[in-house]
Amino acid sequence: MSTLFVCITCRREADPPSDVRPGARLYAALGAEAGDLDVQPVECLSNCTRSCTVAVAAPGKWTYIVGHLDPDRNVSDMVQFARLHRASADGLTVWRDRPAHVRKNTIARVPPLATKESA
Ligand code: FES
Repeated sequence: MSTLFVCITCRREADPPSDVRPGARLYAALGAEAGDLDVQPVECLSNCTRSCTVAVAAPGKWTYIVGHLDPDRNVSDMVQFARLHRASADGLTVWRDRPAHVRKNTIARVPPLATKESA
């Protein structure tokens, strides 16, 4: 199971002040589109200047941090990428298979922690 951790406190500099932050709108949109994927809200992924931000993670797999997400344009990109992540044994996905936004806006990837079984 891959989880999308969505920063609900993200707000881009160009966004007008509003009651609902773009990160919260992204979280709601992903929750509606993600089907059987797990979507969890988090407060700040320390990528504020390149928001909105989502991390895709799963036990034993590489974690990806993706930024510059627009809640009105990139929901399907993140759902597609999370499905690729889920289908991959180690979380690594083929670069050309990733949605263009993910290819261009991956902030970091983090290796999985070693488990007792793998150490
Ligand atoms: S507020 Fe979203 S990454 Fe910091």
